[in-house]
Amino acid sequence: MAILKIARMGHPVLRRPADPVPDPSAPAVRTLVSDMIETMEDAHGAGLAAPQVHVPLRVVVFHVPGARALREGEEPVPVTVLINPEIRPLTEETADGWEACLSVPGLAGVVPRFTRIRYAGFTTDGARIEREAEGFHARVVQHECDHLDGILYPQRMTDLSLLIFAEEMRHGLPHASGVRTPTAEELSDAD
Ligand code: NI
Repeated sequence: MAILKIARMGHPVLRRPADPVPDPSAPAVRTLVSDMIETMEDAHGAGLAAPQVHVPLRVVVFHVPGARALREGEEPVPVTVLINPEIRPLTEETADGWEACLSVPGLAGVVPRFTRIRYAGFTTDGARIEREAEGFHARVVQHECDHLDGILYPQRMTDLSLLIFAEEMRHGLPHASGVRTPTAEELSDAD
């Protein structure tokens, strides 16, 4: 197990599309995944994508911890690994919400995301996972999978006046209609 160095916005590994994993059950993939989970937990992240640790492969890990799930009125989601994930929106509807990213440290922004999705992918046992997700769970998965296509959340924003340094939220957040005000803890969580 090891804590890996996180790439920051501007590093080319975050801009290129990541490559499919030929064998999800390969020992090297298992090692990568356990290091990614340790790195995510060390950084208090809700999720992490392999390009964020300088590995251009289609692997993401994420979770919705109990306390966060409670605030969102959702079910907690245990730490989940998705290799070669696919996402399909189940609605045209989007909702705005605050996001942060370990590769864009210190900042937070309001991002529109599909409210309901279906996602699928493989685990390190080679088993296929398929789930439907809503709300914050759906948001985290969309954020992580964007990393595999070289997209960071500011590129998804429609109003850059809502891109702020999280520390400045103590002065009050810019108005974003229909967006729940995040707690300080949530703004320090990052994907
Ligand atoms: Ni991120």
